[in-house]
Amino acid sequence: MTGPDRPFWQRLFEQNITPWDRGSASPQLLAWLESGTLSPCRILVPGCGNGYEVLALAAAGFEVTALDYAPAAVERVAAQLRAADLRGSVLQADVREWTPDDGLFDAIYEQTCLCALHPDDWMSYAARLHAWLRPGGRLFALFMQTLKDGAAQGLIQGPPYHCDIHAMRALFPASRWDWPAPPFAHVPHPLGIFEIGILLQPKPAA
Ligand SMILES: C[S@@+](CC[C@H](N)C(=O)[O-])C[C@H]1O[C@@H](n2cnc3c(N)ncnc32)[C@H](O)[C@@H]1O
Repeated sequence: MTGPDRPFWQRLFEQNITPWDRGSASPQLLAWLESGTLSPCRILVPGCGNGYEVLALAAAGFEVTALDYAPAAVERVAAQLRAADLRGSVLQADVREWTPDDGLFDAIYEQTCLCALHPDDWMSYAARLHAWLRPGGRLFALFMQTLKDGAAQGLIQGPPYHCDIHAMRALFPASRWDWPAPPFAHVPHPLGIFEIGILLQPKPAA
């Protein structure tokens, strides 16, 4: 497989090199929760990292499943849930291979897992996101905006890989996903870049 691998991410967690980390749950997740746009349901958090959002969702009464393939991330999030006496399932799994064995999800909170995957993997990952949602389910997506200079020469640079809105439209085409009208939420990121927050809904297969 192309791009960063499990040892790459594991090393970052072991060395506490996690510059993407906000240190608390994303303001966009909190806005979706406070507005009632996202309310307690069965939710998946792929590429959960240090899991601030997993903790916030569990505390808000969601039935959370968190995935990460770095063992250090999984151990941290599981330990934090235990310490806070919160329920949640934290699985060590590769999002490019994982299949849920206990049913589909009402919602997926995709915060910067896509931008951690090499673009070669994006199409199959997008198909998986679609397949993991039950009919009527929803994808709460934070797409990382980090256009790099090398793009002008056609270089693929990351992680984080730039999740250009045109690429996102191709990956989540309107034939398969309902899109809201722009402008989308602009969510500042500690790296000095930003994410766009978009709520997508899969359409049933034709
Ligand atoms: C940029 S971090 C984002 C973490 C978290 N979502 C956040 O916003 O703080 C990307 C995370 O995805 C995980 N990851 C990367 N590739 C993965 C894969 N193929 N399967 C599962 N997790 C993966 C990494 O271990 C890392 O925790």
